[in-house]
Amino acid sequence: MKPQAERRAPIALITGASSGIGEAYARILASRGYRLVLVARRADRLDALAGELQTAHGIEAAPLPADLSKPGDTERVAACIGELPPLTLLINNAGFGNPGLFHEIDPRSHTDMVAVHCTATVRLARATLPKMVSRRGGAVINVSSIAGILGEAGGPMYGATKAFLVRFSKNLASELRGTGVGVQALCPGLTRTEFHDGPGYEDFDRQGYPNWLWMEASDVVIESLAEVERGKVVVVPGLRYRVLLALVNNPLGRLIADRYTDRRAGRE
Ligand SMILES: NC(=O)c1ccc[n+]([C@@H]2O[C@H](COP(=O)([O-])OP(=O)(O)OC[C@H]3O[C@@H](n4cnc5c(N)ncnc54)[C@H](OP(=O)(O)O)[C@@H]3O)[C@@H](O)[C@H]2O)c1
Repeated sequence: MKPQAERRAPIALITGASSGIGEAYARILASRGYRLVLVARRADRLDALAGELQTAHGIEAAPLPADLSKPGDTERVAACIGELPPLTLLINNAGFGNPGLFHEIDPRSHTDMVAVHCTATVRLARATLPKMVSRRGGAVINVSSIAGILGEAGGPMYGATKAFLVRFSKNLASELRGTGVGVQALCPGLTRTEFHDGPGYEDFDRQGYPNWLWMEASDVVIESLAEVERGKVVVVPGLRYRVLLALVNNPLGRLIADRYTDRRAGRE
């Protein structure tokens, strides 16, 4: 993508664009005429997706391979944002789970999770916002999780890093009120992606969760983008999850959440 090119098409940078929700953002935004910068570790996937979207929609799409657990790679992405025209959307979506007990999991996975979910999000938002604010437009979408609201889901680190994203997004949105720049914390529930194929999920049983709980990545993204237009900050896609949340965020719900934590920790 040409640096500082004066073009009118909107531009989005998406992290975690090589699969799942990030890939769905890329496909939907390409169909809406966005120019794209696609970030993830798997360069072959990014190349193939960028080529396909360029051919299908006549847009520009640039792969930017980077491992956001590595500070040097995150700085490289931030520098790239500095050279681009102002982004219309920054989508901080890269993420992973690390199932298991905190004290048994590879400690590197915990610190990588902080780096990918929190540090990279903060750094890329900081790189993006000056131009958005001076142009009085654009939005930052931080992909959190329902676990960011129900902190127990997904374990100590996953829930905590996703809760950070919710709090960070709310505080940033308050600070940016009146600037024309939006911030969203997207909090999906179970979504059909490669998320549950990662390390540690070998025994994860998708059938163990009722079919109606699973959402398609494209539906999650369509709700997210619609809510950017409306300026909603914390977005929980799917009526089923908004109802579940209302049921669980009360004393009985907390009891159920505590039982879930007990089960995870092998106490029952
Ligand atoms: N699926 C769900 O049920 C669910 C529910 C709530 C929230 N979420 C959140 O949604 C987001 C997207 O996940 P998904 O469900 O679409 O899962 P996914 O299909 O596994 O996608 C995860 C993406 O993150 C990228 N990524 C992971 N580690 C990275 C790193 N160190 N550096 C750069 N990119 C990295 C992956 O790309 P590479 O492997 O190529 O690097 C991939 O593109 C995550 O933040 C996840 O926490 C998912």
